[in-house]
Amino acid sequence: MKGEQEELGVGIFGCGHLGTAIALRLVQSGYPIQKILVSCLDTDKAKKRLKNTQLKNNVVGNKYLLERSDVVFYGVRPSDVKAILKYRLKKGAVLMTLLAGTPLQKVKTSNDEEIDKVRVMTSAPDTIKNGQGLCARFGENTDKADEVLQYLKLNMVSLESENDFNAFTAYGPCLPIALACCEKFGKEVVAGEIEAAADSQGLMNWKSVIQWAYSAKPSLSNSAFDSYLESVCTPGGVTEAIVNTIKSGNALIDSLNKGVERSVQLIRE
Ligand SMILES: NC(=O)c1ccc[n+]([C@@H]2O[C@H](COP(=O)([O-])OP(=O)(O)OC[C@H]3O[C@@H](n4cnc5c(N)ncnc54)[C@H](OP(=O)(O)O)[C@@H]3O)[C@@H](O)[C@H]2O)c1
Repeated sequence: MKGEQEELGVGIFGCGHLGTAIALRLVQSGYPIQKILVSCLDTDKAKKRLKNTQLKNNVVGNKYLLERSDVVFYGVRPSDVKAILKYRLKKGAVLMTLLAGTPLQKVKTSNDEEIDKVRVMTSAPDTIKNGQGLCARFGENTDKADEVLQYLKLNMVSLESENDFNAFTAYGPCLPIALACCEKFGKEVVAGEIEAAADSQGLMNWKSVIQWAYSAKPSLSNSAFDSYLESVCTPGGVTEAIVNTIKSGNALIDSLNKGVERSVQLIRE
């Protein structure tokens, strides 16, 4: 690891459930907290929400954050994709977009020609916090992004094209949540069927990801389960589509495929 002065400035624009987990995991892994800035829509509300965490003094406005960050995690909801459009990033910065179902070309800033963009799809906040995260990333010039991502100690999955993010999202990051829902609602799961279904979605050699999903699946009480679902389901998103399909009595594979469909739909919205 480098000295504090040499570390890249990291900004988390849209520090909600996922952004907070990423920021806290960076700090826990030794990333200098002075090098991290976070922003939310409502700065005062965010300061109150983060006041019991190490990030309490790191909340700033969007413009200030973008002027100082070399690597920016973009963590707003997909419906807020245009939130960054009016801003300029530091020349040479990398914008790492976390938005599910949102292709790189849909994420625009005021100085796209001066920055690099990398699309990153991670697993849920609980897996990031406990160092069990799964991640795929896509883009050119990923060096700066990788320099920061290594602190999160993620299980990296390589995808052949950006189109593979649709199937990856459902059969990767969403799988522990879907397995936990099946357990909760008494649905039978056959591991071999998941591998065959992933294969038919173009995801090769998926056995190790399925093993990861079983180990990352949370075991929660009924009362904790609802707040867990709130932290992993973005309204209108892929995970919500999968969870609702399982809750309506459908089988795991049909529900995961519904998530893939939702991811494809989001591209057009
Ligand atoms: N949660 C997951 O499991 C997960 C997994 C993979 C990918 N993702 C993706 O990650 C993104 C975030 O998900 P999440 O669950 O963390 O959502 P979230 O908790 O709703 O966080 C979104 C954050 O964006 C902030 N925001 C909205 N507009 C903004 C603006 N104009 N300027 C600055 N901040 C703004 C909100 O601020 P306020 O707090 O002030 O409202 C909120 O803190 C989504 O795009 C989702 O698809 C989520």
